[in-house]
Amino acid sequence: MEFFLDTANTADIEQYKDLIAGVTTNPSLIAREGRDFKTVVKEITNLVPGPISAEVTATTAPEMIAQAHELVKLAPNVVIKIPMTVEGLKAVKQLHAENINTNVTLIFSLSQGLLAASAGATYISPFIGRLDDIGADGTKLIQELRQGLDNAKVSTKIIAASIRSVKHVEKVALAGADIATIPTAVFSKLFEHPLTEKGLAAFMQDWDNFKEKR
Ligand code: G3P
Repeated sequence: MEFFLDTANTADIEQYKDLIAGVTTNPSLIAREGRDFKTVVKEITNLVPGPISAEVTATTAPEMIAQAHELVKLAPNVVIKIPMTVEGLKAVKQLHAENINTNVTLIFSLSQGLLAASAGATYISPFIGRLDDIGADGTKLIQELRQGLDNAKVSTKIIAASIRSVKHVEKVALAGADIATIPTAVFSKLFEHPLTEKGLAAFMQDWDNFKEKR
């Protein structure tokens, strides 16, 4: 499974850029930064060579397609993030015909994921945490999408999104996600384990004692 950062914060991306394969943003994450949308997306594409999702904000297919055409001018690694609506999937179909990569977002069911894949989505983004929040099972949706996409023999990749914990990352990896897009606060925790810290401290102490005796 590949690791993406789910953030529009360029300082966070700078810190981890060598360890991630891509970045996803959404209008809420962009708004949180309080900076110009296209400027932020352009900066992110300069930091990370992998896929960078930038979301359209229009509601009709022609308007979404027009926004997509503007966004792809920013850099070759821009992926157009499109909401899971009828108009959104019409836009995905057209953009697929133009060889423009898309990421269909706000996926909460198997049927939504299969429809997006059938329209030609490069990526689909099921929202794990928001499903768990309402008492549903986000990990189970990843398992179902994995099986459904494999049965359909399509190359659409699953980006597990709305990740809230290290456990979520581990569960979606085992459930068959191609990618997990992870907020920085969770990503930083993936590296940690108390036994790693304890083991390293012991190695350093033993090495210092050994050096002093020589
Ligand atoms: O980028 C979309 C998704 O990851 C949002 O997550 O935490 O707002 O449910 P969240």
